[in-house]
Amino acid sequence: MKIVSVVGARPQFIKAAPVSRALARAGLSECLVHTGQHYDQSMSGNFFEELNLKQPDHHLGIGSGSHGRQTGLMLEAIETALTAERPDWLLVYGDTNSTLAAALAAAKLHIPIAHVEAGARSYNRTMPEEINRVVTDHVSTLLLAASDASAANLRREGIAESAIVVAGDVMHDAVLMFSAEAERQSNALARLGLASKSFALATIHRAENTDRAERLHAIFRGLTDLTTALRVVLPLHPRTLAALDRETRDAFTGAGGILIEPAGYFDMMQMERHAALIITDSGGVQKEAFYQQVPCLTIRDETEWTELVELGWNTLLPPEQADRLREVALAARARKGVQGAPYGDGRAADIIVRSLREHRR
Ligand code: UD1
Ligand code: UDP
Repeated sequence: MKIVSVVGARPQFIKAAPVSRALARAGLSECLVHTGQHYDQSMSGNFFEELNLKQPDHHLGIGSGSHGRQTGLMLEAIETALTAERPDWLLVYGDTNSTLAAALAAAKLHIPIAHVEAGARSYNRTMPEEINRVVTDHVSTLLLAASDASAANLRREGIAESAIVVAGDVMHDAVLMFSAEAERQSNALARLGLASKSFALATIHRAENTDRAERLHAIFRGLTDLTTALRVVLPLHPRTLAALDRETRDAFTGAGGILIEPAGYFDMMQMERHAALIITDSGGVQKEAFYQQVPCLTIRDETEWTELVELGWNTLLPPEQADRLREVALAARARKGVQGAPYGDGRAADIIVRSLREHRR
């Protein structure tokens, strides 16, 4: 059985790591395609090195662009790769333009598609990610949901029960797989002069926050305000760096905020683990906060990972109210959620591999 996996953006390198290892353990042949959606060393190359991912068999080098152009170029290049490889399965992760392009290319070639993180929904169609995951789910053969709630979303959309498997979250597998190595290899805390549980870790990159200047300003005003109570470390996504004006950036660093390059995965894990609070608009970071048992404040109107809000580990702050960030963050820091395991037990990759075998047509 031959599998082509398509990745392209930072979270997909992390999600692919445990699955690629599980495929190799099962003796299955995997061909890795990198679309090139992310290309900076700090957004791509570093993850291949740290996570010991195999080098891509096809590197499409697509790069940045408008949604239509980027997705269109990927579609054409992925079609060529799939036509050459003729796999039994296309395996895709999450909700990026790389996910959508790969799914469309495979669907037209009648190649069965397995979608990891199927059924996640924000029910906000202005998000590019929501369009990507809805379309991908509806052309997929095997829908690998991270949680029961994701599976229920799929059923509500009329997806056949026989196509749905609740596999759990592969990001949890990655945390368990790499924690010890991160502890050994990362010196992020010492380098940044941070004591454990004395700081907030923040990441902001979601288009709905970066592409509206007044929202981005309000979020940065909130983060700058928070630095008076807690040190704030912000590894900055290139999209946010490009959107940020110098004055706003200087106000944050001038108040003691620590602005750094996008972090490597091991440094990120260490910072997450030792943070007193995580502030984010990332999908993956919300879940990692829970795996590290750190309270999380999510700067968004809604989340796909509603289970964590229900368990009390995650608090939502609508970006329109970002001026209240300091007050809400300090309250969130004091909050511990109740225990639960909505995303499985960190063995999703093996379930995914087993499902690929069982659902092979
Ligand atoms: C993409 C995904 C988003 C995911 C995020 C993970 C889509 C629609 N969005 O958003 O769901 O959460 O990846 O990080 O697929 N850039 C660089 N260097 C890079 C990559 C990007 O400078 O290596 C800059 C470019 O200016 C680019 C911008 O970041 O235009 C946005 O990159 P893009 O891949 O289009 O979207 P992300 O915001 O990264
Ligand atoms: N991440 C990282 N360095 C950073 C920011 C995030 O290694 O500076 C990791 C993070 O630990 C998680 C993943 O990237 O595993 C999340 O990706 P991102 O926030 O870019 O995208 P999303 O999950 O929102 O799609």
